[in-house]
Amino acid sequence: MTEQTTTTTNQTPANVEVDTSYENDSSYGDELSSYSASLTSSVLEYRHENGRRYHKYRDGSYLLPNDEKENDRLDMVHELCLQVLNRKLYLAPIKNPQRVIDLATGTGIWAIDFADEHPQAEVIGCDLSPIQPTLVPPNVKFLVDDIESEWAYERNSFDFIHARSLAISIRDFGKLIKQCYRSTKPGGWVEFQDWNGYPYSEDGSLDGTALQRYFDNVYGAFEEAGYDARPGVKLEEWFKEAGFVNIHAEKFVIPCGVWPKDPHFKKLGVWAQAGVEAGLEGGALAALTRFKNWTKEEVLLLASEARADGRKRDIHSMFNFYVVYGQRPEN
Ligand SMILES: C[S@@+](CC[C@H](N)C(=O)[O-])C[C@H]1O[C@@H](n2cnc3c(N)ncnc32)[C@H](O)[C@@H]1O
Repeated sequence: MTEQTTTTTNQTPANVEVDTSYENDSSYGDELSSYSASLTSSVLEYRHENGRRYHKYRDGSYLLPNDEKENDRLDMVHELCLQVLNRKLYLAPIKNPQRVIDLATGTGIWAIDFADEHPQAEVIGCDLSPIQPTLVPPNVKFLVDDIESEWAYERNSFDFIHARSLAISIRDFGKLIKQCYRSTKPGGWVEFQDWNGYPYSEDGSLDGTALQRYFDNVYGAFEEAGYDARPGVKLEEWFKEAGFVNIHAEKFVIPCGVWPKDPHFKKLGVWAQAGVEAGLEGGALAALTRFKNWTKEEVLLLASEARADGRKRDIHSMFNFYVVYGQRPEN
C-alpha cells in the first residue's frame, strides 16, 4: 500500500429523497417502540442527579448519564453504526490483530463483538464507567480508565486502536490521537468513527425548529465547556498531524426520521430518530443544569418540544458521520 490519503463521501445528501407516500411505514412505528434493554449495569457509588445516574471516577468530567436508559441508547447507536457500515465493525485493513483496545467503550458492545469476530486477539475496552457486562468472551477485558490522562499502556503495543462516538466527550482530540499513535505498534492501525453532532437540513426545514434550538443550546453548552461537538470532519487532519500514513477518511450521511424515500435511508432514519429521542433528556440535563443554570423542568420541556419536531415528516434533518483510519509507519 502506498503512503497516501484518500477522502471519500460515499453517500451524498442529494441521494436522500423525501418519501411523500406514507402507507408503508407502520412497521417503523413498531421498531421504535419495541426496543428493549439487553444489558445490566453495576451498582457502584455513582452520582445521582435529576433522576439520572452519572459516573463517579473522574466525577463530572463526562456529562451524559451511565444508567440503563443511556446504555440502551448506546446499544441502539451501535446498531445504527453497523447498518451504516454494512454491518462492519471497522473499515481499517487490519490483518490478524493480537492486541486491540476500544477507547471509551461505553457498554462494551463493540469490544465484545470484535472479540467474538477475532478469537485470537486480546481485546481491552476502557471507560470511565464500569457499566460493561461480566459475561463476556474470554478474550475481552474491561478497565476503568481516563483516556484524556497520560496513558499507562505500553508504547508501541497495540495492533489496532478503535474509538467511536466521542463527540461531546473529549476536549482534546488532537492530543488523544497522538497518544494513540505512540501506543500503536509500527505498522498497526487506528480508527476513529465520529459525528458532527449538530443536525442540518438541505432544504432549510430544520431552521427555526425546537430540534435545532435543542442542539444549539445543548451542544453550545458542551462547546463552551470545552468539549468538541463536531470532531468528525477534523479527524483526518488530526491523523495527519499525529504522523499516520495511509489515511482513509469517509463521510456518511445519516438522515434522522422516517422521511427519506429510499428504503436504506429510511431504515437508517428510523434508527437515528430512535437514538436521538432516547438521548434528548440525558444529553441535555447535566450540560444545561450544571453550566447554564436551567431547571430540570426547563430542560425536559425543551427535550419534549425537540422530540415532537423530530417526529414531523416535513423536518428533514440529517447528521454527518465520519470514519477515519490511518497506519503508523513501519519504521
Ligand atoms: C457516547 S459514549 C460512546 C460509547 C462507545 N464508544 C460506543 O460507541 O458505543 C461515550 C463514552 O465515553 C466515555 N468517556 C467519556 N470521557 C472519557 C474519558 N476521558 N476516558 C474514558 N472514557 C470516557 C463515557 O463514559 C461513555 O461511555
